[in-house]
Amino acid sequence: MDWEEFLTPYKQAVDELKVKLKGMRTQFEKEHTHCPIEFVTGRVKPVASIIEKANIKGIPLSRLEAEMQDIAGLRMMCQFVDDIKLVVGLLRRRNDFRIVEEKDYISNKKPSGYRSYHVIIEYPVQTIRGEKKILAEIQIRTLAMNFWATIEHSLNYKYKPESVTK
Ligand code: GTP
Ligand code: MG
Repeated sequence: MDWEEFLTPYKQAVDELKVKLKGMRTQFEKEHTHCPIEFVTGRVKPVASIIEKANIKGIPLSRLEAEMQDIAGLRMMCQFVDDIKLVVGLLRRRNDFRIVEEKDYISNKKPSGYRSYHVIIEYPVQTIRGEKKILAEIQIRTLAMNFWATIEHSLNYKYKPESVTK
């Protein structure tokens, strides 16, 4: 498996989406209205984490593109819980990607206590060999939810079996 080649469109997607989602914040700031977006981060999942998750979930490497939704991951942090709905509404209105799934862990928090709104998108990357559609996960959460998730993640999440974290 050539990971460098495999991850290239994901890297490009994360770079582009960071610019685009940060652009939403910039537009609010210009209008001097309440800005629902505090900050945006993005990352490509490290190869070791991809392999580990594929093993745990029984995903063959040939099925990664279709079955691992968070190889490209974006996070949008909000100040207030109500801002999350507003941001999701803005994402639904965009024409540069297609939403394939939404997971509302705000209304239905996980047994672990995890809260976030996840939007899975299909994003078209323009490559030198034509268009390539990749999946990306956008997590929308408040600063407080992010603080909790970051700490809980390093304490528990990565080391628990899926049945416990679901
Ligand atoms: P994974 O949980 O990543 O194996 O994928 P999934 O298909 O079960 O999707 P899910 O929506 O459950 O989780 C996707 C992502 O949400 C994870 O990769 C984490 O970033 C985050 N997440 C989900 N559950 C928890 C949790 O209990 N604690 C923390 N800290 N993060 C979580
Ligand atoms: Mg999970």
